[in-house]
Amino acid sequence: MNSTLQQIDIEKFRKDFPILQQKVHGKPLVYLDNAATSQTPKIVIDAIQEYYLKYNSNVHRGVHRLSQLASEAYEETREIVQDFLNANSVQEVIFTKGTTDGINLLASSIGRGLIREGDEIIISAMEHHSNIVPWQIMCEDRGAKLRVIPINDDGEIIFEAFEGLLNERTKLVSIVHTSNSLGTVNPLREIIDLAHKKGVPVLVDGAQAVPHTKIDVQDLDCDFFVFSGHKVYGPTGVGVLYGKKAWLEKLPPYQGGGDMILNVTFEKTKFNELPYKFEAGTPNIADVIGLGVALNYVQKIGYDKISAWENELMWYARNRLQEIDGLRFIGNAKHRAGAISFVIENVHPHDIGTILDREGIAVRTGHHCTQPVMQRFKVPATTRASFAFYNTKEEIDQLINALHKVIEFFA
Ligand code: ALA
Repeated sequence: MNSTLQQIDIEKFRKDFPILQQKVHGKPLVYLDNAATSQTPKIVIDAIQEYYLKYNSNVHRGVHRLSQLASEAYEETREIVQDFLNANSVQEVIFTKGTTDGINLLASSIGRGLIREGDEIIISAMEHHSNIVPWQIMCEDRGAKLRVIPINDDGEIIFEAFEGLLNERTKLVSIVHTSNSLGTVNPLREIIDLAHKKGVPVLVDGAQAVPHTKIDVQDLDCDFFVFSGHKVYGPTGVGVLYGKKAWLEKLPPYQGGGDMILNVTFEKTKFNELPYKFEAGTPNIADVIGLGVALNYVQKIGYDKISAWENELMWYARNRLQEIDGLRFIGNAKHRAGAISFVIENVHPHDIGTILDREGIAVRTGHHCTQPVMQRFKVPATTRASFAFYNTKEEIDQLINALHKVIEFFA
């Protein structure tokens, strides 16, 4: 059996994604903006449509048939996620709006439940704004301090600096698994081991990891893990917060409302058990169901094959990009996945993005919601190509040809 995807597999899988079949500006679409959002296979779209056509109904609130079908499908996704992450229990799987929502939930809940004046939270210098700003807001509210692990010129965390930041005031380490703007994959096992030796829990931002890598939260031993559906071939507006049961039980709820209660009087409310304590209000039922279908879809292809193929694609792209005059990579970590960021001398990334678009090629240009990374590397913005298992080497060749045109245009 082959351990990577073959041309024939990719041609077959691409047919699952109707959006990939179109032309943009008269050219076949080359979609290399998967780190922003990945495309959605038709079976996911069909599952969402089926919910609205056949059993649209609220969950956990009705004895009638439609409500039961909706509740079953919703809770089935929780089981799929439990298996997907290898969580210990379905009680450890909380549905959210996405990664940002999951981090805000935790920042708010940990802030109210655990943080006192003078406490510290550690993040890294390569975090997405969604893993910076919620902590800044919480630290300001609670009189706590945000500490930042610096990164080196290759875009890797400086581990000794992390060791130096951990102390008896540290209450949480919140760190990205795979950087969206540098492509760096962090040494999470070492980070988590060290934090745990000091009794500090760790939250992993897995948004850019789940499309590329098999995640096993028990093996990683992280205390919390967040990801978004839309980066892993699922719908937007849905995501997951995993938390170890012991931690989630200790934390106060994030929002109040329906479903998160056992009993309400004007004097006192008794909160529901996990995971419902953290799921106030009518959830995003259709997209949770879609997420389950998406996770089954990727698991069926297999992470061993997906990772191997994407790794091959990424290094092929890195090698070919070196042909471009004046191109400089931002982020040279040895252990990397998903995305390649670069700048080209004397050409603004937005101009690159616009010319590539005319060739039917979608990349992201800008600061990628990581302005501190741009500041660290002293660039205003980068061009980022990011990959999915459905991308091909021919598409990378098209990117290189288009970049040659950019250089000619600006010469
Ligand atoms: N976080 C997404 C990205 O990196 C939007 O593009």
